[in-house]
Amino acid sequence: MKNTLKINKIIKPFNESIHVDGDKSISIRWALLASQAIGTSRAYKLLKSEDVLSTLKCLKKLGVKIKFNDQYCEVIGRGLGGYNYKKNLTLDAGNSGTLGRLILGLLLNSTQKIKLIGDKSLSKRDFSRVTEPLQKFGAKFHSKKGSKLPLTIMGLKYTIPINYTEDKGSAQCKSSIMLAALNTNGETFIKAKKSRNHTELFFKYLKIPTKIKKTKEYDYIRIVGKKNFKAFNYSIPGDISSSAFFIVLTALSKNSKLLIKNVNINPSRVGVIKILIKMGVKILLKNKRDYKGEIVADIFIKSSKNLKAINCPSYLNSSAIDEFLVIFLVAAKSKGVSYFKNLSELNQKESPRLKWGSKILNMMGVKTKLTNHSIKIYGNPKLKIKKLITIKNYLKDHRIFMMSSVAALTIGGEWKIHDQDSINTSFPSFLKIIKKIKKSSI
Ligand code: S3P
Repeated sequence: MKNTLKINKIIKPFNESIHVDGDKSISIRWALLASQAIGTSRAYKLLKSEDVLSTLKCLKKLGVKIKFNDQYCEVIGRGLGGYNYKKNLTLDAGNSGTLGRLILGLLLNSTQKIKLIGDKSLSKRDFSRVTEPLQKFGAKFHSKKGSKLPLTIMGLKYTIPINYTEDKGSAQCKSSIMLAALNTNGETFIKAKKSRNHTELFFKYLKIPTKIKKTKEYDYIRIVGKKNFKAFNYSIPGDISSSAFFIVLTALSKNSKLLIKNVNINPSRVGVIKILIKMGVKILLKNKRDYKGEIVADIFIKSSKNLKAINCPSYLNSSAIDEFLVIFLVAAKSKGVSYFKNLSELNQKESPRLKWGSKILNMMGVKTKLTNHSIKIYGNPKLKIKKLITIKNYLKDHRIFMMSSVAALTIGGEWKIHDQDSINTSFPSFLKIIKKIKKSSI
């Protein structure tokens, strides 16, 4: 029962300044790239969440030396192809789709069979989106469950560069291919539907020979492999996906203000800000600056009245893909019917989030119309909840837990939200920050 969070009061007005935990996508990419660099790379403010710890554990099993303390994390790379492949190696990606999919790209030169496993949620997710292109490089995959975990990979010494079109808009798939290209002689070519571009920015910063041509819908990426790069230091900015819960907490609370400091606002990640501003949420980006190719800023949010429904343009889907659950909460409190479409990818996440989002709104008394790829949300600015809502058996999806907490703290009702430890996947400080904000209540 201790792992269940009970909330039965809405949060009082607050005026606070916070930092959220480090960006998960950037933390995982930093560790994977540092493991292929020559020398000791150091990261400050690395996200200390289970997904990142799983990444470090996998790298250790591959013979990479790692030093991790309160101040920083050091990864000692031995250059491209510098892993040690022991016999009967099993790597556990835990809950992390990003780790599971990206690391396969780095294992293409394995000289032994490697088994990749994951938790219950990850074992339900599709890996064909990466095994299909990675097979074209020459690697072999085997799984008893179609293209799901557990699966084994058998690499080869000389992989062959490929020419591939990625059209799901999956950054994990694109990045897995980009990492595979690092250890492949010759030029790999990817036509990739727009998605978060942290891997590209790291490649540019590390001077890995990469050419990118951008069009409205696709990026055309060329990478020349087998070029070693040097170790590098990095300070991880705050995660916009974690910030989103606090943006919505503030927007839906009365007479409140919040400043979230030092958040990554890469244009390929800020769909949530664009969508919420269109819906009437008061957000300001302050103190914008460049950090090694990424953009960082402080985000200022004020309580927002007169929220309006949105017919959400699909071109914003990929840049807001992890934030739709909290965006749905804003839609529930807005005037009019909101419509979100072309979102089948949302059901491919840690839990089927489009379905769960709709289910939670229904429990809150909000009407929805759901298909496999879209949702209509019938908003009500006067929405109040007066009953008991229990959230359980949701595959411990961290974002379901945090969305439910924000709903409970802003819209009311009596909530019992199971599996509190799910926050450790991406945002271990989530409840501590809520406590800090509650203390500052006016
Ligand atoms: C991620 C990409 C997205 C996102 C995930 C992190 C990444 O997944 O949902 O949380 O770090 O590359 P897809 O690439 O499957 O869309």
